[in-house]
Amino acid sequence: MNIILFGAPGAGKGTQSALLIEKLGMYQVSTGDLFRAAIKNKTELGIKAQSYMDKGQLVPDSVVIGMVEEVLKSGVRDFILDGFPRTVPQAEALDELLNKLSISISKAIFLEVPKQELMGRLTGRRVCKNCGAVYHIVSKPSKLEDVCDSCGGQVVQRNDDKAEVIEARLKNYDEYTSPLKDYYTKSHKFVELDGNRATEIVFSDLKKVIS
Ligand code: AP5
Repeated sequence: MNIILFGAPGAGKGTQSALLIEKLGMYQVSTGDLFRAAIKNKTELGIKAQSYMDKGQLVPDSVVIGMVEEVLKSGVRDFILDGFPRTVPQAEALDELLNKLSISISKAIFLEVPKQELMGRLTGRRVCKNCGAVYHIVSKPSKLEDVCDSCGGQVVQRNDDKAEVIEARLKNYDEYTSPLKDYYTKSHKFVELDGNRATEIVFSDLKKVIS
């Protein structure tokens, strides 16, 4: 089954995707992670994406759509689209692409988390520079400060998790991404989950939705 997981920055998309990979063997297509890998490798795409990401702006649709097309064309299945689509034009382009590749999406699952919770989640988030494992300074600290439990890599704050950049990301989310709720309601794929509960409880509901 292929699904879309969407929600505001910090709603828990990456956290839930990691569980879907570990427990159900699904494949994650995270546009944010793809851009961060391109930035790390200093590719042309990475240099272009970084100028938008550091300011909390969305990378232009044409760039994102082309990147996702490459991944889906490679034949991945049982995938989770995490962070894509993020605008209505991206959702329309995705529909076209899925049609062309004869793939379908079963559910577009929205994680609902109130604004006041998101800021604390994002400012406290830390990530492993090496393997990408996600921590939180209060709710999920690494055992040794700044050291990843999984691979021993350095745990750091994302550039775009600074308060002023978070404000811009949340504003863009309201303007461009929240209209996707209506878009997927019309296609009868929309499912809303309360993401403001313990990670395991959210995951338990998520599994029920996709099983
Ligand atoms: P991206 O990396 O996709 O960022 P995002 O959508 O802003 O989402 P986040 O990664 O910040 O949050 P998340 O929902 O995954 O939360 P997480 O699980 O980590 O994109 C980054 C940038 O790339 C964008 O701003 C844009 O510039 C660009 N971009 C990407 N895709 C694009 C697209 N399609 N179009 C255009 N531009 C694009 O959790 C957050 C924290 O909360 C963690 O510390 C975690 O431990 C904690 N947490 C998680 N769940 C819970 C819970 N249930 N209870 C308590 N704490 C929790």
